[in-house]
Amino acid sequence: MAILKIAKMGHPVLAQIASPVDDPCDPAVHRLIADMIDTMYDAPGIGLAAPQVHAPLRIVMFYVPGDRLDEGEDGTAGVPLTVLINPEITPVGDHVNEAVEGCLSLPKMAGRVRRHTEIRYRGLAPDGSTVERHARGFHARVVQHECDHLDGILYPMRMDALTSFGYIDELAKSATAPSGTVPQKGSDDD
Ligand code: NI
Repeated sequence: MAILKIAKMGHPVLAQIASPVDDPCDPAVHRLIADMIDTMYDAPGIGLAAPQVHAPLRIVMFYVPGDRLDEGEDGTAGVPLTVLINPEITPVGDHVNEAVEGCLSLPKMAGRVRRHTEIRYRGLAPDGSTVERHARGFHARVVQHECDHLDGILYPMRMDALTSFGYIDELAKSATAPSGTVPQKGSDDD
Protein backbone atom coordinates (compact mmCIF):
# COMPACT_ATOMS: atom_id res chain seq x y z
CA MET A 1 0.00 0.00 0.00
CA ALA A 2 1.21 3.44 -0.87
CA ILE A 3 -0.25 6.89 -0.97
CA LEU A 4 0.94 8.49 -4.19
CA LYS A 5 1.62 12.16 -4.75
CA ILE A 6 -1.14 13.87 -6.72
CA ALA A 7 -0.09 16.12 -9.61
CA LYS A 8 -1.62 19.59 -9.60
CA MET A 9 -2.76 21.69 -12.56
CA GLY A 10 0.32 23.01 -14.32
CA HIS A 11 2.22 19.73 -14.15
CA PRO A 12 2.87 18.53 -17.72
CA VAL A 13 1.67 14.97 -16.98
CA LEU A 14 -1.88 16.36 -16.66
CA ALA A 15 -1.71 17.95 -20.11
CA GLN A 16 -0.60 14.97 -22.16
CA ILE A 17 -2.50 12.20 -23.92
CA ALA A 18 -2.16 9.07 -21.79
CA SER A 19 -1.07 5.79 -23.38
CA PRO A 20 -3.29 2.71 -23.65
CA VAL A 21 -2.50 -0.16 -21.29
CA ASP A 22 -1.23 -3.17 -23.25
CA ASP A 23 -1.91 -5.83 -20.63
CA PRO A 24 -4.53 -5.11 -17.93
CA CYS A 25 -3.32 -8.16 -15.99
CA ASP A 26 0.30 -6.94 -15.78
CA PRO A 27 1.34 -7.07 -12.09
CA ALA A 28 2.83 -3.58 -12.38
CA VAL A 29 -0.57 -2.29 -13.56
CA HIS A 30 -2.25 -4.02 -10.61
CA ARG A 31 0.23 -2.44 -8.19
CA LEU A 32 -0.47 0.98 -9.66
CA ILE A 33 -4.24 0.41 -9.39
CA ALA A 34 -3.94 -0.71 -5.73
CA ASP A 35 -1.91 2.40 -4.91
CA MET A 36 -4.37 4.61 -6.79
CA ILE A 37 -7.26 3.19 -4.74
CA ASP A 38 -5.40 3.97 -1.50
CA THR A 39 -4.57 7.45 -2.78
CA MET A 40 -8.15 8.22 -3.86
CA TYR A 41 -9.65 7.19 -0.51
CA ASP A 42 -6.91 9.00 1.41
CA ALA A 43 -7.37 12.29 -0.48
CA PRO A 44 -10.41 11.85 -0.15
CA GLY A 45 -11.90 11.79 -3.62
CA ILE A 46 -14.59 9.89 -5.50
CA GLY A 47 -12.53 9.47 -8.64
CA LEU A 48 -8.94 9.40 -9.81
CA ALA A 49 -7.15 9.02 -13.14
CA ALA A 50 -3.64 7.59 -13.52
CA PRO A 51 -2.12 10.82 -14.91
CA GLN A 52 -3.06 12.47 -11.61
CA VAL A 53 -0.51 10.22 -9.89
CA HIS A 54 2.13 10.90 -12.57
CA ALA A 55 1.39 7.69 -14.51
CA PRO A 56 0.43 8.62 -18.10
CA LEU A 57 -1.71 5.51 -18.68
CA ARG A 58 -5.37 5.12 -19.62
CA ILE A 59 -6.70 4.01 -16.23
CA VAL A 60 -9.50 5.66 -14.24
CA MET A 61 -11.37 4.73 -11.09
CA PHE A 62 -14.43 6.12 -9.35
CA TYR A 63 -17.40 5.29 -7.20
CA VAL A 64 -20.77 6.97 -6.73
CA PRO A 65 -22.35 7.13 -3.28
CA GLY A 66 -26.00 6.01 -3.26
CA ASP A 67 -27.26 9.46 -2.31
CA ARG A 68 -25.61 10.92 -5.42
CA LEU A 69 -27.31 8.64 -7.92
CA ASP A 70 -29.69 10.61 -10.10
CA GLU A 71 -33.31 9.68 -10.59
CA GLY A 72 -33.69 7.08 -13.26
CA GLU A 73 -30.48 5.29 -12.41
CA ASP A 74 -30.75 1.67 -11.37
CA GLY A 75 -30.15 0.70 -7.78
CA THR A 76 -29.98 2.67 -4.58
CA ALA A 77 -26.66 1.43 -3.28
CA GLY A 78 -24.67 3.63 -5.62
CA VAL A 79 -21.98 2.55 -8.02
CA PRO A 80 -19.29 0.47 -6.35
CA LEU A 81 -15.63 1.25 -6.82
CA THR A 82 -15.02 0.73 -10.52
CA VAL A 83 -11.65 0.55 -12.26
CA LEU A 84 -11.67 1.09 -16.02
CA ILE A 85 -8.67 0.41 -18.20
CA ASN A 86 -8.63 1.93 -21.70
CA PRO A 87 -12.15 3.39 -21.20
CA GLU A 88 -14.36 4.67 -23.99
CA ILE A 89 -17.40 6.93 -23.71
CA THR A 90 -20.30 7.28 -26.11
CA PRO A 91 -22.84 10.05 -25.47
CA VAL A 92 -26.49 8.97 -25.54
CA GLY A 93 -28.73 11.63 -27.04
CA ASP A 94 -27.74 15.28 -27.04
CA HIS A 95 -28.90 16.40 -23.60
CA VAL A 96 -26.38 18.28 -21.51
CA ASN A 97 -26.54 19.58 -17.96
CA GLU A 98 -24.41 21.88 -15.88
CA ALA A 99 -23.17 21.24 -12.35
CA VAL A 100 -20.31 22.12 -10.04
CA GLU A 101 -17.17 20.00 -10.20
CA GLY A 102 -14.01 19.78 -8.17
CA CYS A 103 -10.78 17.94 -8.85
CA LEU A 104 -7.97 16.63 -6.67
CA SER A 105 -5.53 18.30 -9.08
CA LEU A 106 -7.10 21.71 -8.33
CA PRO A 107 -7.39 21.56 -4.56
CA LYS A 108 -10.02 23.75 -2.87
CA MET A 109 -11.41 24.96 -6.21
CA ALA A 110 -14.68 24.36 -8.05
CA GLY A 111 -16.54 25.46 -11.14
CA ARG A 112 -19.66 24.81 -13.18
CA VAL A 113 -19.16 22.47 -16.12
CA ARG A 114 -21.51 21.32 -18.85
CA ARG A 115 -21.50 17.57 -19.54
CA HIS A 116 -23.52 15.02 -21.45
CA THR A 117 -26.45 13.97 -19.29
CA GLU A 118 -26.43 10.40 -20.48
CA ILE A 119 -23.62 8.17 -21.73
CA ARG A 120 -22.57 4.60 -22.33
CA TYR A 121 -19.10 3.66 -21.26
CA ARG A 122 -16.94 0.61 -21.52
CA GLY A 123 -13.47 -0.45 -20.51
CA LEU A 124 -11.51 -3.36 -19.14
CA ALA A 125 -11.54 -4.42 -15.51
CA PRO A 126 -8.21 -5.37 -13.89
CA ASP A 127 -9.04 -9.06 -14.50
CA GLY A 128 -9.28 -8.38 -18.24
CA SER A 129 -13.08 -8.68 -18.41
CA THR A 130 -15.14 -6.01 -20.13
CA VAL A 131 -17.18 -3.52 -18.12
CA GLU A 132 -20.03 -1.94 -20.07
CA ARG A 133 -22.58 0.40 -18.50
CA HIS A 134 -25.17 3.02 -19.12
CA ALA A 135 -24.97 6.09 -16.89
CA ARG A 136 -26.79 9.35 -16.40
CA GLY A 137 -26.56 12.45 -14.26
CA PHE A 138 -23.86 12.54 -11.63
CA HIS A 139 -22.61 9.05 -12.49
CA ALA A 140 -22.17 10.08 -16.14
CA ARG A 141 -20.49 13.31 -15.05
CA VAL A 142 -17.89 11.56 -12.90
CA VAL A 143 -16.95 9.18 -15.71
CA GLN A 144 -16.63 12.04 -18.21
CA HIS A 145 -14.49 14.05 -15.78
CA GLU A 146 -12.13 11.13 -15.14
CA CYS A 147 -11.80 10.15 -18.79
CA ASP A 148 -11.00 13.77 -19.71
CA HIS A 149 -7.86 13.40 -17.58
CA LEU A 150 -6.64 10.76 -20.06
CA ASP A 151 -6.75 13.32 -22.85
CA GLY A 152 -5.04 16.12 -20.96
CA ILE A 153 -8.28 17.96 -20.19
CA LEU A 154 -9.00 19.51 -16.80
CA TYR A 155 -12.51 20.73 -15.97
CA PRO A 156 -11.77 24.49 -16.24
CA MET A 157 -11.01 23.81 -19.92
CA ARG A 158 -14.64 22.64 -20.28
CA MET A 159 -16.19 25.66 -18.58
CA ASP A 160 -18.35 27.98 -20.65
CA ALA A 161 -17.57 30.90 -18.37
CA LEU A 162 -14.86 31.25 -15.77
CA THR A 163 -17.12 33.46 -13.69
CA SER A 164 -18.24 30.42 -11.67
CA PHE A 165 -14.65 29.20 -11.18
CA GLY A 166 -13.02 29.86 -7.86
CA TYR A 167 -12.13 28.78 -4.37
CA ILE A 168 -14.86 26.70 -2.75
CA ASP A 169 -14.74 28.76 0.45
CA GLU A 170 -15.35 31.98 -1.46
CA LEU A 171 -17.94 30.52 -3.84
CA ALA A 172 -19.91 29.27 -0.87
CA LYS A 173 -20.13 32.82 0.46
CA SER A 174 -20.95 34.35 -2.90
CA ALA A 175 -24.44 35.29 -4.03
CA THR A 176 -23.69 33.83 -7.46
CA ALA A 177 -23.47 30.37 -5.96
CA PRO A 178 -26.96 29.10 -5.12
CA SER A 179 -26.86 27.12 -1.91
CA GLY A 180 -26.49 23.43 -2.43
CA THR A 181 -24.54 23.67 -5.68
CA VAL A 182 -21.14 24.03 -4.09
CA PRO A 183 -19.60 20.78 -2.88
CA GLN A 184 -18.42 20.43 0.67
CA LYS A 185 -14.67 20.79 0.87
CA GLY A 186 -13.09 17.59 -0.35
CA SER A 187 -16.32 15.68 -0.71
CA ASP A 188 -16.67 15.83 -4.46
CA ASP A 189 -13.12 16.02 -5.68
CA ASP A 190 -12.37 13.80 -8.58
NI1 NI B 1 -10.11 15.44 -11.68
